Amino acid sequence: MVQMGRKGKNMCGIIGYSGRLEARQVLVNGLEQLEYRGYDSAGIAQMTKQSVEVTKAVGNVGALKRKLEKKEDVISRCGIGHTRWATHGGVTEENAHPHQFGKVTLIHNGIIENYKKIREEYGKEQFFHSQTDTEIAAMLIDFFYDGNPEEAIWKTVAQLEGSYAFCILFEDIPNVVYCIRRISPLVAAYAEEGAFVASDITALIAYTQDYFVVPEDTILVLTDEKAELHDREGEIVEPDLLHVKWDLTAAQKNGYPHYMLKEIHEQPEALHQTIAPRIKAGIPDFEEDQIPDSIFESVQQIKIVACGTAMHAGLIGKVLIEKRVRIPAEVEIASEFRYASPIIDQNTLVIVISQSGETIDTLASLRLAKELGAVTLGIVNVKGSTIARESDYVLYTHAGPEIAVASTKAYTVQIATLCLLTMRLALVKKTLGRGEINRDFALLKESMECVKRSLLLDPQIQEMTACLTEAKDLFFIGRGIDYALSCEGSIKLKEISYIHSEAYAAGELKHGTISLITEGVPVIAIATQESVFSKMISNIREVKARGALVILITKESMQVEESVFDYHFTIPEIADDYTPIPAAVILQLIAYHTSVRRGLNVDQPRNLAKSVTVE
Ligand code: F6R
Repeated sequence: MVQMGRKGKNMCGIIGYSGRLEARQVLVNGLEQLEYRGYDSAGIAQMTKQSVEVTKAVGNVGALKRKLEKKEDVISRCGIGHTRWATHGGVTEENAHPHQFGKVTLIHNGIIENYKKIREEYGKEQFFHSQTDTEIAAMLIDFFYDGNPEEAIWKTVAQLEGSYAFCILFEDIPNVVYCIRRISPLVAAYAEEGAFVASDITALIAYTQDYFVVPEDTILVLTDEKAELHDREGEIVEPDLLHVKWDLTAAQKNGYPHYMLKEIHEQPEALHQTIAPRIKAGIPDFEEDQIPDSIFESVQQIKIVACGTAMHAGLIGKVLIEKRVRIPAEVEIASEFRYASPIIDQNTLVIVISQSGETIDTLASLRLAKELGAVTLGIVNVKGSTIARESDYVLYTHAGPEIAVASTKAYTVQIATLCLLTMRLALVKKTLGRGEINRDFALLKESMECVKRSLLLDPQIQEMTACLTEAKDLFFIGRGIDYALSCEGSIKLKEISYIHSEAYAAGELKHGTISLITEGVPVIAIATQESVFSKMISNIREVKARGALVILITKESMQVEESVFDYHFTIPEIADDYTPIPAAVILQLIAYHTSVRRGLNVDQPRNLAKSVTVE
């Protein structure tokens, strides 16, 4: 069984810089871009000629900026910065990073599992200032440091269990940042303005679109002249350079009040970017993705493994694959799959779906699947991410950066990619002919077009959400593919509005859950499937009879009596299997406006972070 990390999560954002610019600005700007990774507290260390100046604040990067205003006389060209998602130790200034010990100042993303043991072993208890697992790394590096920084880092990491991405400053080595990572991500770049390192490319995009992933088991050294990788022997390692197509404007709000709303509105373009390059004569083609048809030929079963929203995209994929390709497709929650005993062999295709490409449970599942001999295919948004690099084959989604914690455009492009994959599989397996696939693709395109129509519903949805702001509980119901979509509607709403919500297969309600439906309880009913439409209407009547406030989503042409709903939103007339993409947009807007009305932090909901890089 593949095991990594330990219980608990630690996401955090990291940035490091050495170069010609004023470091404070680079660090603060970078932290603002990375804030979606964690926002409990933030801190930076600025290296000056005399010292290493640390400033930390509880709260978001704004709080840190206010503190830094009082330190404008600190001028520096090198430094490190961190935005924290607390795990070990509460949200306090002492626990915020950077941490200092002797000559060493350090920031960390990850979890050091054996920190307690090390703390006891070295008998330095009285010198620690925080409850974090991180401080022992600073202590160890300082302990081993005798003028050779890389040696001290190697000796330290040899003692550590768990995951880490460290950026380290040594008081007596001016303007150099040392970095090393295991599991937790780090990318680096050298641009005109200097050398940079960060948890992900969004923090560097203001300076460059070219970067590299810091490989494990190498030390990255940043100076104002280079970003260089060293192996254990001190030899230079050449990085594999990557390029992203998007630029800084893609990572900004561009006039929208929130990233989430901007990303909802970016869906038509994100879908187009993902689909268009892969279509030849109306048929999906993965030649440029270097995915040969031969990998599909022997596939006898499919497992789709992912977490959260990505897993919900998988639920739609399962329906499509089983219907069109007629091979069993199971959707697995990655955190369960990795500890189960899955039945997998070389005829199994394991599809892992991840926006970030770093989700630890999905990554561990991928490794397990490979170990068991499956063919693995990643559907990943972030280029060069660990899941993308480790999957046998990758289909990148081209949604551009997704900054809001609640995933929106990543979800619809994942569904669209699964649609393409289904069509290609059906072609290879000969369950559909070329003509049928042409028709299928036309339907997918139509559904992508309908996203624009759903976006036009924004004002009506905004108005409707007034009836949801005081809700304590809420239910989503649907059948078939609409049930799969309900799961996504529910997670979206609860994660940003903090209203308790559940998704139910509509026919299952009366086996228990209907007892929770009382006067005024909102029920969002998704009824876009012709084949089960009348059943859905009966289920809606059942909740309406018990006082539910019904928000109904159907296709335009579907006839419904006014008595069954309180609010009604429609999507255009499209084929049943392709309704989730435009219907998802309506659900995203419901969640968004409910959160805004409740005065919540839409882009950074409490307790969450964008990239879940430890279990
Ligand atoms: C919810 C959400 C999460 C992610 C999940 C997987 O809006 O964003 O449920 O979908 O954490 O993340 P990725 O796709 O990065 O593996």
